[in-house]
Formats: sequence, C-alpha cells, structure tokens
Amino acid sequence: MLIDTYGRVATDLRVSLTDRCNLRCTYCMPEEGLQWLAKPDLLTDDEIVRLIRIAVTELGVTEVRFTGGEPLLRPGLVGIVERCADLDPRPRMSLTTNGIGLQRTAQALRDAGLDRVNVSLDTLRPEVFQAITRRKRHDDVLRGLDAAHTAGLTPVKVNAVLMPGLNDDEAPELLAWALEKGFELRFIEQMPLDPQHGWKRDGMITAGDILASLRTRFTLTSEGEDERGSAPAERWLVDGGPARVGVIASVTRPFCRACDRTRLTADGQVRTCLFAREESDLRGALRSGAPDEEIARLWRLAMWGKKAGSGLDDPSFLQPDRPMSAIGG
Ligand code: 5AD
Ligand code: SF4
Repeated sequence: MLIDTYGRVATDLRVSLTDRCNLRCTYCMPEEGLQWLAKPDLLTDDEIVRLIRIAVTELGVTEVRFTGGEPLLRPGLVGIVERCADLDPRPRMSLTTNGIGLQRTAQALRDAGLDRVNVSLDTLRPEVFQAITRRKRHDDVLRGLDAAHTAGLTPVKVNAVLMPGLNDDEAPELLAWALEKGFELRFIEQMPLDPQHGWKRDGMITAGDILASLRTRFTLTSEGEDERGSAPAERWLVDGGPARVGVIASVTRPFCRACDRTRLTADGQVRTCLFAREESDLRGALRSGAPDEEIARLWRLAMWGKKAGSGLDDPSFLQPDRPMSAIGG
C-alpha cells in the first residue's frame, strides 16, 4: 500500500503523459508555451506501463487517470491504455483532456479499455474560449465531447474554471447546457499554478460565488459530506436530481485530509501533491536497472513524506516550481 504518516492511503494514480499542449489557457501557460521536456527525459511507453503495473499490482492503486499537458498529444496513448487494461487487477482508467482530437480517438480509446473522460471546457462562447485558451478551437472541443458520449466514455465529465471578468457570469448557462447534453459538470476553483504567477486570492471566483450564481436559476441540494468521500468535488443535486453538479473548492475548502492521490510526472518523478515542493525520481531507478521491489520501495518512501496539506489556505503559501501542465492535473 501507499500510506503516509497521516494514515492516508493513495489508490488514485495520476499519470502525466506529456507536458505539451495545443492550447494556452491563461491560468496554465504563457502565450509562448513553456520550455518543454526533452524527449529523452520523458518516460517511454514501456516505462510508463511498467510503473503503472507496479502501482497496481504492488501498491494498491485501483484508479489510473491519464493527464498532461494534453494527453491526446502522446502518440502511444491508445497502446498504453490497452496494455493497462490487461493488468490484473485491472485498474479503472480515465483521461483528463482538453477534448481537441477526441473526436478522432474516442472510439479507439473506448475499445482499448478506457472507462471515462474529463473534458475541460470553461465557456460556451467561442470568443471567450479564444480569450481563455488563446486558440480558436471551441468547435473541436464540442465535437470531441459529443464523440466521447457516443463512444460510451460515460459519464462524460466537464471541468470548468471561472475567471473574473471572462466567464464568471456563465455558470448557469454551462449547467443548463450540461444537463441537456447529459454531461456531469464540475466547477474547479482557479488554483495558483500559472507560471506567470498571475493568480490573486482577492479576485478569485470562489465555490460560494459559483453556488450563488447557480442558485439564481436552479435549486441545489447538498449530497452531504458522507457522499463526498475522497472525491474532491462536493456534489449537489440539481432541481431535486438525479442530475448533479460538482464544485471543487481546492482553495476555499481544501480536501487534503481525504486525499487519496499519488502523481507521476511525464519525466518519471513521483509527486505526492500538486503543490508539493519535492519530487522523487523513479526514472533514474528504472534506467539503472532497479527491480520492481526497489521501485515500489522508493514510491512508498515518497508517499511517507507526503505533507498534511497543500498549504493553499496559508498566506505564506509558495507556488510549486513546475506549472500544472508539467505536473499533471
Ligand atoms: N486552476 C484550476 N484548474 C486548473 N486547470 C488547469 N490549470 C488550473 C488552475 N490553475 C484545470 C484544467 C483541467 C484540469 C486538468 O485542471 O482546466 O480541467
Ligand atoms: Fe492545455 Fe490544460 Fe493547460 Fe489549458 S489547462 S493549456 S488545455 S494543459
């Protein structure tokens, strides 16, 4: 098992497959992109599958989520999913994507064994999409979402980040659209992970703001803490249910005490938290011929050093050196 000194057990592994992306969301990347990892530094497909196998067979991981950057940019993605679906025990697998290219790959991913997708979409307005992502790809995302639904990658979840002055008035509209489409919408509070360090606690749109805005049009009833478990989203029944909406209040209501995550970066570093300031190198061990048991030991050791919380609620909070795209969302 992966256990830490606070008694938390990690069963949910997030694997970043690439740090690259075809969008430039302002809360994530600068216009010019970032200094991408060099190819030789990235884990190979074989190395990724081996680490996932160790996590699943030796460390108790039951859920694997592929992230990026944009994971659909990884050429070997379908093959990686296919090989992970063959593992025993077979992990549940999902993909967090911006949706671009999903139209082409949704069916192949489903056939390979992927269970679900989370698609990021912050707005229904093409011009606002362009302002947030700096690219004219709104239509591609909408088509990707429909393809995921058709392929049975369900429930299709949609992640939306609201930003002041850009899309903070869109919450009810997004929810009405998601209900009509049969997608599960979740709002995520913007976190300080942008490399420009532009995030400001004062101006941010909080979970409280989002709920107030939704309540101008919908009746929301809490599912209660019991239902939340280790899921970061607090879920609300919309107009009596069964449809739901989630709010992930990473900043104003951190859920670190129930955290069940461990993370692997595209270059083979274990991170115990998005906001960790330390990483543990597994790639070096892999490439120096370490056996599975040694890699499992290093992973357990990393987990043992997991901090109590993100520190986001502390004014002395320091942003991690790596941006979100290099850690894996
Ligand atoms: N704050 C909150 N969410 C973010 N995401 C990316 N950067 C941030 C941030 N700074 C979201 C993306 C995607 C998921 C991986 O995380 O929109 O839905
Ligand atoms: Fe790409 Fe996701 Fe970052 Fe947007 S938030 S730039 S889609 S990695």
